[in-house]
Parts: sequence; C-alpha cells; structure tokens
Amino acid sequence: MLSADTITGTVQVPRPRIEVPPTVCENLSPAAKSALRNEIEALLKARDAVLVAHYYTDPELQSLAEATGGYVSDSLDMARFGHEQKAGTLVVAGVRFMGETAKILNPEKRVIMPELAAECSLDLGCPAEAFAAFCDQHPDRTVVVYANTSAAVKARADWMVTSGSALDVVRHLHAQGRKILWAPDKYLGDYVRSRTGADMLLWNGACVVHEEFKGHELAELRAAHPQAMVLVHPESPPSVIAQADYVGSTSGLIATVKSGRAAEYIVATDKGIFYKMQQAAPGKTLIPAPTSGESATCHSCAACPWMAMNGLSKLAAALRDTTGHEIHVPRAIAERALVPIKRLLDFAAAQKQQIYGNNDA
Ligand code: 13P
Ligand code: SF4
Repeated sequence: MLSADTITGTVQVPRPRIEVPPTVCENLSPAAKSALRNEIEALLKARDAVLVAHYYTDPELQSLAEATGGYVSDSLDMARFGHEQKAGTLVVAGVRFMGETAKILNPEKRVIMPELAAECSLDLGCPAEAFAAFCDQHPDRTVVVYANTSAAVKARADWMVTSGSALDVVRHLHAQGRKILWAPDKYLGDYVRSRTGADMLLWNGACVVHEEFKGHELAELRAAHPQAMVLVHPESPPSVIAQADYVGSTSGLIATVKSGRAAEYIVATDKGIFYKMQQAAPGKTLIPAPTSGESATCHSCAACPWMAMNGLSKLAAALRDTTGHEIHVPRAIAERALVPIKRLLDFAAAQKQQIYGNNDA
C-alpha cells in the first residue's frame, strides 16, 4: 500500500504564483558547440576564472568544467570548491541560490552566472518577508533552512542544511530537545521528520521537478524491473520515497550507483545527473523514474527548467561581458547568511565526516 502524498503539519501561507518556464535545452550544431567550447576555454584563462557546474546542468557544461580544471558537484560542494581556488572569478553554472552561496562563502571573488534568471521553485516559494513573519510567530523554534533558499532567507536562519546533511543536523538538534521550524521543502522536511522523530513545523514549499515523480507508476516500473535498485532524491513525494532502496543527495545517488551491486537503477531525480552517473558506472543501466502516467501529465519531465537555462551560448556571453551576469549580495545580508552556512560546515568538520557532496563518483 503506497502512502498518501499529503503532508501534515505544513504551514498554509499565501505563496506567490510561481511561473514555471518550459524546459528549453540549447540546441547547437557540433561545429557551433566546438567553436563555443574553444572560446570559453580561452576566456576562462584570460579572465582568471574557473567553471563550477551542478550535476543537473547540460552535460556540455559538466564536461567543459571537467576539461578546464573546474568542478562538477552538488550545491554546497560547488561553493566549497570555489573557496579553495586561487582564481579571482567563479563561474557558477546552476541556479541562483548556488551563485549566492558561492558569493557568501567567497565575498572577495567575482561570481558570475550564465543566466541570473535561473531560479528554483523552492526559493521562489519562500519569500523573505513572509518567512520572517512565520519565524516571528515561532520564536521558540530553531530555524533550519534548506540550501535552496535566497540569501535573505538564510540570513533569518539558525542553520542551513543540504539534502545530504539534513538528517544529521536535525538528529543533532532533536537530541538537544530543540523544536524545529523548517523551510521550504515540505517533502524533504516530512522525510527528515519521519526519520528523526523531531518536532518540525514545515513551510509549504516543493520542487516542481521532484514533486512530479509518481508512486503508482514507479510501482509498475519496479514490477517490470524487479532486480533494479531504486534511488530517490528526498525532494520527492512520500509515495516515491517509500519505494526507495536509497534516499539521498545528488552526490549520494551517484556514489550509490558506483558502489551498488545491481546492474539496473531506477533514478528519481533530474536527468542531468545521468551524465555523471554513467561516467561513474559505465556498465550499469540507468532508468528514469516515471513522471507521468494515468494520474498526471508532467511539466518538467525530470529536467529542471531553470537548470536548463544554462548553456554554452550564455556562458560565453557572461565571460565576454559580465554585465547582467554578476551575483551581488548586500553585505549585511551576506554576513548574516554566512552564520547558518558556517554552522553546517563546522558541524560537518566536527563530525569528521563528509556529509555533503564528495564528488568521488
Ligand atoms: P544538491 O544540493 O543535493 O545538489 O541538490 C540541489 C537541488 O536543487 C536538488 O533539486
Ligand atoms: Fe530547484 Fe527543483 Fe530545480 Fe533543484 S530541481 S533547482 S530544487 S526547481
């Protein structure tokens, strides 16, 4: 019996209507791609810049980051990598909150992005003012926010977590008897609450990509592939998480494909991750989890529309002229937002375990 996907204990706040753009991937001829890659490589050198890309971006960008001494990983690890680099400019191929986190951790560096309009439905669904009002109503709760939030929301938080660190941090807080105010992803929050038993009040946000994975259709797919291991990102609904053999962050999902004994893997996360997964485990078969069926019609179809805004043409444009591509975070907000981010980094170091992206795939 599959669990229902209604989450209890969520806060019904008036949320802004989120305009979800269509997922439009760049379509270039091989000659145009090659010319742009050469130009970008030269511009990265000339601008003392390094390219860091998220696992969900176009494989063209991921392979270019790898080929030019850059990095491909999850959101927090992208920022950490940038911090360790001598390069004065970080080029972040991903979505806006990733650029902001990179800037907050590296205030002395210039951070540019191919497309500043590359947002995230979790970030858009949690406006800073409404969130501050929510926090004001619950001063007794420790405020824990997901990395997928604006700098202004992080500035109001006690802790920031990533999908790979949320369970450890909440367990730690729960053991101290703390009650938690969680934002913005209700599915990730519900998953963490169910695993830790912590008292968590959840903001009513969701990722438009992961929310579309379907429990019923996944059960049918599993029946057709009984030996397959099911890997699920915890931004997915409970009926999907309930069928997972492994639930974890983007880095964790890749590491599991690499180390797993199964020959087939059903994967419930953005399809962009398949590039790195296949690289990590060339002989294994990857099957996308279903996003549509009798009960739904997918919109994103497991491809984040905002991640797709990153392409070679826009990357080249950002490097030619940074105007309109540079991330700025007001100093007061950046200084305050650094507190919950630093808390997570210190917690991870104290635990002597790598609880976020390890890029070891
Ligand atoms: P990670 O930080 O685990 O890479 O996830 C980011 C994200 O946007 C997932 O949808
Ligand atoms: Fe945000 Fe979802 Fe896109 Fe990740 S996949 S950036 S959570 S909208």
